[in-house]
Amino acid sequence: MKRNQLYIAALVSIVCGLLWACRPDDGFTPPSALYDPSPYTFNRPELEGPNRLFPLMVVPSDNPMTIAKVELGRYLFYDAKLSISGNQSCNSCHKQEYNFGDNLALSMNASGSRNSRNAMPLINLGWANNGLMWDGRTIDLEAASADAIFSELHPNPSAILDILGSDSLYTNLFAKAFEDGAISLENINKSLASFMRSIVSIDSKYDRYVKFGLNEFSQEEFRGFEMVFSSEEGDCFHCHASSDVIFSDFSFHNIGMDSNINTIYDFADYGLGGNTGNEEDYGLFKTPTLRNWAYSAPYMHDGRFTTMEEVIEFHSTGLKNSPNLDVIMLKDGKIQNGGLQMTTQEKSDLLAFLQTLNDTVFINNPSYSNPFE
Ligand code: HEC
Ligand code: HEC
Repeated sequence: MKRNQLYIAALVSIVCGLLWACRPDDGFTPPSALYDPSPYTFNRPELEGPNRLFPLMVVPSDNPMTIAKVELGRYLFYDAKLSISGNQSCNSCHKQEYNFGDNLALSMNASGSRNSRNAMPLINLGWANNGLMWDGRTIDLEAASADAIFSELHPNPSAILDILGSDSLYTNLFAKAFEDGAISLENINKSLASFMRSIVSIDSKYDRYVKFGLNEFSQEEFRGFEMVFSSEEGDCFHCHASSDVIFSDFSFHNIGMDSNINTIYDFADYGLGGNTGNEEDYGLFKTPTLRNWAYSAPYMHDGRFTTMEEVIEFHSTGLKNSPNLDVIMLKDGKIQNGGLQMTTQEKSDLLAFLQTLNDTVFINNPSYSNPFE
């Protein structure tokens, strides 16, 4: 090559290099003009502001709640396009009328396998701070959403992206919800998590009592209230009352539901232990909330009890020993007696109080209902 040819070649490669460096990034998408970061607010002084009754909801800093994200999440939650079969959505197992749980003990996922656990109610989860799922395997709602899509709806979640990408409803909703407008799994999980955080139940008779001191309680209900909260006898509050409004400590316990558990390997489901691998976690499950229980039967991680009367009877006479039984269940010789040995009056008082936790406003709240209908 001659010298001036060399110069030209060098010049050409420099110019090309510069052009290459200045080209738009492969993953680069221009900011969407529709992007709307308007924050989502509950507009409820009980939840926000200095006099709030609920603890402050801690939202991940990389996923602040916006109106657009909650809206997108609501569409995704109800959309069967997310499933491999094309006919299931989150709503198939988490129905508003059942407290965003399921009336089936064990449901079938979109690949046709039966779940070994009961679908959990998805209410007031914005406050959950100690792991989600019965075994605590996901750390936050974003991770729970990724887990749920994979295990319940689609074994190859990225296949959903093309389907949503060819739907103008979604190109629009994603453009509004995210600065990059990208239809990605990360953004799907962020929106579903935002929608789930917006699902809040706070309008039960019990709430009216806490908020306004409205004394609508009957004597029966008050006695049941005392049993749940104040008496060591009822003991429910140790696990079902955090800040008196959530009705779950978001922690994990073994409450002694099975006979013949002699070693930790006898648990039919290892629960938290299956996730952590720690022996002392075998047979422990996440405490569910007691709110809106009337809508969310059947109960427990395997849906074994169909009525609250059965749950109460279990606490009264059905406790069984196990290597990992929670110390609270051992107190005052409870296990030896088979339970709290409640009188008929005490059982009906407890049931009466628990009824005050049911929230019909929530069950019918149109903000959470199917946007396609
Ligand atoms: C086929 C039924 C089914 C479908 C569909 C389904 N879920 Fe679930 N969901 C379950 C079951 C069962 C559990 C309990 C799983 C476990 O503990 O192993 C659960 C648990 C959860 C939890 C944990 C709640 C808690 O209190 O810890 C979240 C969050 C959740 N699902 C969200 C979703 C979302 C979002 C979708 C849609 C992407 C979805 N689920 C679709 C059955 C389903
Ligand atoms: C030591 C902690 C603890 C105490 C005390 C306790 N619970 Fe629970 N409760 C749990 C856990 C954990 C579960 C889930 C157990 C499982 O599925 O294995 C549960 C489940 C329930 C459920 C089922 C909810 C659902 O959606 O499936 C009801 C109802 C319930 N408890 C009521 C009560 C009542 C009433 C009392 C007081 C008499 C009480 N619990 C005392 C920890 C506790």
